Amino acid sequence: MPTPMAIHVQGLRKRYAGFRSGVDALQGVDFDVARGEVFGFLGPNGAGKTTTLRILATTLSPTAGTATVSGHDVRKEPMAVRGSVGYMPEKSGAYPLLTGIQNLVYWGHLQDMDGSGLKDRARALLKELGLEEAADRKVKTYSHGMSRRLLMAQALVHDPPILLLDEPAGGLDPQGIRFFRDLVKRLQGEGKTIFLSSHILSEVEQTCTTVGIIHKGKMLAVDRMTALRQRIGASALVRVEVECDIPSQPVVQQLMAIPKVRMVYQLPDGIRVEAESGADIADEVARVLVTNHVRLRAVRPTEATLEEAFMSFFGGGPI
Ligand SMILES: Nc1ncnc2c1ncn2[C@@H]1O[C@H](COP(=O)(O)OP(=O)(O)OP(=O)(O)O)[C@@H](O)[C@H]1O
Ligand SMILES: [Mg+2]
Repeated sequence: MPTPMAIHVQGLRKRYAGFRSGVDALQGVDFDVARGEVFGFLGPNGAGKTTTLRILATTLSPTAGTATVSGHDVRKEPMAVRGSVGYMPEKSGAYPLLTGIQNLVYWGHLQDMDGSGLKDRARALLKELGLEEAADRKVKTYSHGMSRRLLMAQALVHDPPILLLDEPAGGLDPQGIRFFRDLVKRLQGEGKTIFLSSHILSEVEQTCTTVGIIHKGKMLAVDRMTALRQRIGASALVRVEVECDIPSQPVVQQLMAIPKVRMVYQLPDGIRVEAESGADIADEVARVLVTNHVRLRAVRPTEATLEEAFMSFFGGGPI
């Protein structure tokens, strides 16, 4: 029998019932996460990321479809699923009136751990996550960054093979973002499977091996990071910036008539011409300007950033 995927999701639907009309948060989501992957679950606010993660963590039941984690069905074997995942929720799930160490020990008990081994493990984890000095302080005194680290420690307390991290670096400063990025890389090195959500492309780009893009409850793409970069790169616009005198309307019309040109913008010291991907328009733009006696100082083909390419992949709409 082939090794089951770490996570297998098929036809997953979730409808939140509402007073007048419900919300179809997931509308038939499919994806697989192989063991040892760092899967980036990328999507804008309200896309359905937290809903999916909560279903995988068994804190929310799906309306339809299947989700298995480590081969266990989230509906039929929730306890087995909980034993194999560590879940870091988007919002705090720690008890504010307990100390950091008390929270961790409590979580350990929920995972059937006990004894002095659990206390030692909790102390070691807090140290690893930079919370050694805050271990005996009540969680309500923690900063946002400290709370995120404690939730990560909770996810790790029973040393699960799969980690479900909901925007682990959400709201953190650059140092905190780097801390989580390095931690994810280290955990991957230890053989963990990591499923993390984010709405920040650059964060996913730096840590993930595979990316799934979710938008309005539907998967738009699931691919290797390298392949996705090529795909969205290929859909990006080609752009040429020209330092020149501002051309007249008839000249702008000639520029617009160049094959594959989509738009001509006026800049403070010249123009920007955008064309479809793959077009090589720099020479033709320069020729049109020179032929029309527009004084030209510089022509610069520029690359769109991955962030911009991503926007253009989604038709330029806000993501
Ligand atoms: N408990 C709930 N009751 C009703 N609707 C909900 C509930 N939780 C989420 N939703 C709706 O389901 C949709 C998906 O929400 P979800 O929290 O899964 O998105 P998300 O991708 O995690 O967004 P964000 O990036 O803002 O965290 C949204 O339209 C949201 O308003
Ligand atoms: Mg969310």
